[in-house]
Amino acid sequence: MPIQTAANLIKKFPPYLFARLNAEKLAARHKGIDVIDFTMGNPDTPTPQPIVDKLIEVVQDKKSHRYSTSKGIPAFLKAVSRWYERKYGVAIDPKTEAVSVIGSKEGLAHLALAVLNRGDQVLVPDPTYPIHHYSVIIAGGKLIPIPILEGPEAFLKYVDKAYIKARPKPKVLIINFPHNPTTISVEAEFFKEVVSWAKKRQVMVVHDLAYADIVFDGYKSPSFLATKGAKDIGVEVFTMSKSYNMAGWRIGFAAGNPNVIGSLAKIKSYMDYGIFTPIQVAAITALDSPEENLRKLAAVYEERRNIMADGMNAMGWPVDKPRAAMYLWAKIPNKFKKLKSMDFAMMMLKKAGVAMSPGSGFGKLGEGYVRMALVENKFRIRQALSSMKKLF
Ligand SMILES: Cc1ncc(COP(=O)(O)O)c(C=O)c1O
Repeated sequence: MPIQTAANLIKKFPPYLFARLNAEKLAARHKGIDVIDFTMGNPDTPTPQPIVDKLIEVVQDKKSHRYSTSKGIPAFLKAVSRWYERKYGVAIDPKTEAVSVIGSKEGLAHLALAVLNRGDQVLVPDPTYPIHHYSVIIAGGKLIPIPILEGPEAFLKYVDKAYIKARPKPKVLIINFPHNPTTISVEAEFFKEVVSWAKKRQVMVVHDLAYADIVFDGYKSPSFLATKGAKDIGVEVFTMSKSYNMAGWRIGFAAGNPNVIGSLAKIKSYMDYGIFTPIQVAAITALDSPEENLRKLAAVYEERRNIMADGMNAMGWPVDKPRAAMYLWAKIPNKFKKLKSMDFAMMMLKKAGVAMSPGSGFGKLGEGYVRMALVENKFRIRQALSSMKKLF
């Protein structure tokens, strides 16, 4: 009898979106194609030097090499509290209302395991960043996908409709603004509606604030926790990956409702020993760094957004300029309308040497779209535009 090498659940999972795309990119590179890669929201510019210097300084201290704490060292949690106060005027108790996460992907995955029982229903946008869906499935919960492409107000209406229809009643609503992949963003007023809805329906809210600082044209993205009463029903998850170019460092945090944070901290205490202390200390330098640095980084993405969107519109591929997030979310152009988003993305890779993510990788309703992450410099973006133009 052969040994069983995968759980039934895992057997049913398709390969992770980026794993498949990476394999295709590699095959193209082997054929000598210089792939211009817009697939993953993986920041291409380096972590700011003061953060790197702090890591080097702390790693020299031999006391820093032991197990860390999975909840996060107190100094990091205090920095999280200062960050919330300074940026959003939100008071966070570092002892009970914040926990470090090994990147928000890990945080969201364990959060679902920490709060869901088997069969619990969860309202999740469609399309959305894959862990918003898969955290629920891994935890044995049931997904209720909610259309988001019509915008935040319509989304909330669909949320309530789905709530009314659902049996058993949904336990959690996962949201993410600025949203990946659609780049939809909201005003603080929207979160007030979410809080009042969640209180009325007694649903927990999990807000993913990954793109807090990748904002353009003077737009400021609100924190969910800055809404009165938000902490009674929800938590927010933030990653250091995007704002501070720390994607490889694997650090972020969750904050908010102390009972939810307590559940997450508890499951994590069984699962991990915490992020390497020098990384946590360097992350404090990041959290305390001036806003001006964040504006400079956002300006880089803003310039890329303009070049890419203007170039696409000029070639007859209509796309909106988002006011937040590091992506363009575009409908498959009319000329190629018959192609599924994966086939269109593969065609672009093979014929133009330009890699992008098919919308279908983010949920059923992402079909018909592609997402382009602005993680190539402006010269490469121009090069990509001129290659793509030949196909129009
Ligand atoms: C919306 C959203 N949440 C979470 C993540 C994961 O970030 P991290 O690097 O902290 O795991 C991403 C990464 O692209 C994202 O887009």
